[in-house]
Amino acid sequence: MAPTGPGSTGTVGPDGPARPGDGATGLVDRWGRTATDLRVSLTDRCNLRCTYCMPAEGLHWLPSPEVLTDDEVVRLVGIGVTELGVREVRFTGGEPLLRRGLEAIVGAVAALRTADGTPPETSLTTNGIGLARRAPALAAAGLGRVNVSVDSLDRAQFAELTRRDRLPDVLAGVTAAAAAGLHPVKVNAVVMRGVNEDQVRPLLRWTVAEGLHLRFIEQMPLGPAHSWDRGEMVTTEEILAELAAEFVLEPVAGRGAAPAETWTVAGTGGDGRPAATVGIIGAVTRPFCGACDRTRLTADGQVRSCLFSRTETDLRALLRDGAADAEVADAWRTAMWGKPRAHGIDDEGFRQPLRLMSAIGG
Ligand code: 5AD
Ligand code: SF4
Repeated sequence: MAPTGPGSTGTVGPDGPARPGDGATGLVDRWGRTATDLRVSLTDRCNLRCTYCMPAEGLHWLPSPEVLTDDEVVRLVGIGVTELGVREVRFTGGEPLLRRGLEAIVGAVAALRTADGTPPETSLTTNGIGLARRAPALAAAGLGRVNVSVDSLDRAQFAELTRRDRLPDVLAGVTAAAAAGLHPVKVNAVVMRGVNEDQVRPLLRWTVAEGLHLRFIEQMPLGPAHSWDRGEMVTTEEILAELAAEFVLEPVAGRGAAPAETWTVAGTGGDGRPAATVGIIGAVTRPFCGACDRTRLTADGQVRSCLFSRTETDLRALLRDGAADAEVADAWRTAMWGKPRAHGIDDEGFRQPLRLMSAIGG
């Protein structure tokens, strides 16, 4: 059987290429990549309704019996870290701060050790609402850092884009995260034509002044139907051109597995402070699939080898059927072996994944 591209079944059939070292390897795939960065979605719910991510209403949430319990999350992440070579664990959603047991989960994950005895790096991708109150406890539990989504600094525009008037809560969350030592605090912004394009420069001005790391993200086809148009999306090149009107940017060499291409902002830093940087995640126009090191777990315990996978592997069923860790680890390896080579957004016949981003986890 030839290696399969996007839309592969995610499992290897009887004739498929044998996975190397069954039961003994990390999360390798048939294209030569190894996943060491685990994104765990802790809930599919959110208290915002960003237009590029969710419809205004009519979403069906996962019924709670289907959502992994705190113990199940910790057990799966533990298998990833201790047996499968996972070194970074990112908690996502929906909105992970809506998960009541978050601090306990973070604490248990921070206490894990990889095979060589190091703790995993941990981070939280959040919309920032409620972070002001919880940042100190999260830091105390062992959380490493946070990524906060801020698509606009204009309150009315923010309210329109997220369908909720919560910008002040978000900004308070960013401030509290920095004060709690959750460094570096990264700010994510999705730029949309005719919506928040005018925010590109103000966002960089703000993050430079506050010592935050800004990353723009090209909008991907992961939201409600008809919310994405290849010809309409704002590209990395356009964002760079907009920034160049005000800032001098110098490329930072060595993107590695990092999805963001990074630039330092000339004239910043000094006095012992590092220069400010800005990143752009050009997932659509400058795909980084060849260096992708991610594996994903949904809130209901499904492994997704890729954001754009159309298939999933059910680890929750294994857990609830009483499977041993080794069996769960093996199912996870098999799922990752079938990871698509690339997302294929530009391919004819590309189809969006069946779940929305909010149910997959960024
Ligand atoms: N395209 C690009 N980024 C998205 N995010 C959510 N949906 C999309 C999309 N369709 C971003 C959020 C958040 C991160 C988890 O993913 O803004 O920063
Ligand atoms: Fe990685 Fe899949 Fe995203 Fe490509 S589309 S970068 S392979 S997760």
